[in-house]
Amino acid sequence: MAVDLLLGLQWGDEGKGKIVDVLTKDYDIIARFQGGPNAGHTLEFDGIKHVLHTIPSGIFHKNAINVVGNGVVIDPVIFKKELDNLKKFDIDIKSKLLISRKAHLILPTHRLLDAASEASKGKAKIGSTLKGIGPTYMDKTGRNGMRIGDLELDDWKDKYRALANKHEAMIDFYDVDIQYDLKDLESDFCEAVEELKKLTFIDSEEYLYQAQKKGKKILAEGAQGSLLDIDFGTYPFVTSSNTTAAGACTGLGVAPNQIGDVKGIFKAYTTRVGSGPFPTELFDEDGETMGRVGNEFGATTGRPRRCGWLDLVALKYAVQINGVTVLMMMKGDVLSGFKKIKVCTAYNYKGETISHLPYNIEVENVTPIYTEMEGWKQDLTKMTSADELPKNLNAYIDFLETALEVPIKIVSVGPDRTQTIHR
Ligand code: GDP
Ligand code: IMO
Ligand code: MG
Repeated sequence: MAVDLLLGLQWGDEGKGKIVDVLTKDYDIIARFQGGPNAGHTLEFDGIKHVLHTIPSGIFHKNAINVVGNGVVIDPVIFKKELDNLKKFDIDIKSKLLISRKAHLILPTHRLLDAASEASKGKAKIGSTLKGIGPTYMDKTGRNGMRIGDLELDDWKDKYRALANKHEAMIDFYDVDIQYDLKDLESDFCEAVEELKKLTFIDSEEYLYQAQKKGKKILAEGAQGSLLDIDFGTYPFVTSSNTTAAGACTGLGVAPNQIGDVKGIFKAYTTRVGSGPFPTELFDEDGETMGRVGNEFGATTGRPRRCGWLDLVALKYAVQINGVTVLMMMKGDVLSGFKKIKVCTAYNYKGETISHLPYNIEVENVTPIYTEMEGWKQDLTKMTSADELPKNLNAYIDFLETALEVPIKIVSVGPDRTQTIHR
């Protein structure tokens, strides 16, 4: 049985949490493959809104097992808070949530290093969520990291101490003003580790292999978005993992020839939180309206998200890099009421018209070229079937499908689980 993927195609926050929750009824296993608590995946049902950071978005369904894969980085303190928030729901965490022994741990000093690194960059900062993601993946690739499996060893505290001491020296090296009380942070960390150790640790690549052999249906849940990919995103304003399809292979141990559908998810417009180039960004009333109507505030940091029109050049690139087979368009409801809808179909790049994503998309190099379409007025949020969708929205969808050469199978018209139209 092939493993399907669900990935964000923009700069994150496309609505992955909502869609994974919607799709979980059709899967036996939901497996997160990269990122960490920099992610904020929102789901809404029965009038409750829930934000998950590390725990896969299938956790509210009785039918599914949720796996945190080896490619994920885990902060025990944040993980414990997520678990605490789930206590009021009747979920058997011990059997429904399994954690890869090979997943790396975010230490308190990783978070401090993130802060020190950002402070040292001044205006050139990445706009990191400051969850320690970059330093943790650096220790992973530098072969210094601590993994979940280490917590099963008697000497894990010695390993911890050696790494934390090294980090403290590195923080000093940055020579920036970072105030912290490591004793307090360490006591929270150790308490959270004890909670974490009560959960089920597995060799997730073996578990997923056997599940596949038994014909179990697996959905791999991505975090962030393709334009934040460490290799293919808008480097250096990216995260520190491969958010694209290949990341699911390395982040779960699934072989490339075992990948089935690649479900790509995008907003009907574009948002970005943090620093970095964003060619279609709006600084006018239209951008302000998108932010207000779309409630565009980061689910992890609460920062306002930058907003702009859909960038088809960037979206095509993401479809191509990921081999997307099915598309899902989110937040079409937010565009209701715009007289005209604009889509960026090419860039003017240093005086030349191009339709691919160049190496450098800073505003001084790139001016978006727009195609304008008629807007729609109807409120979409109560609509339940594709027949009800307004003519002009259908024209917008057709235009995108033709350009991207991939069908748009889901149109999301609101944050709730039920506000999902299948086409
Ligand atoms: P993720 O990181 O990809 O899971 O996305 P986030 O949860 O960070 O951000 C998406 C936001 O949009 C959340 O607040 C969702 O509740 C909300 N949302 C998802 N789909 C829709 C939709 O179709 N319409 C509207 N208005 N909101 C949506
Ligand atoms: P989800 O999974 C949106 C952004 C940060 C920053 C850059 C690097 O909810 O879509 P990091 O903390 O990784 O060092 O930050 O990446 N970023 C996200 N933006 N959604 C996310 O996750 C993000 N995770 C990281 O804002 O610009
Ligand atoms: Mg998010």
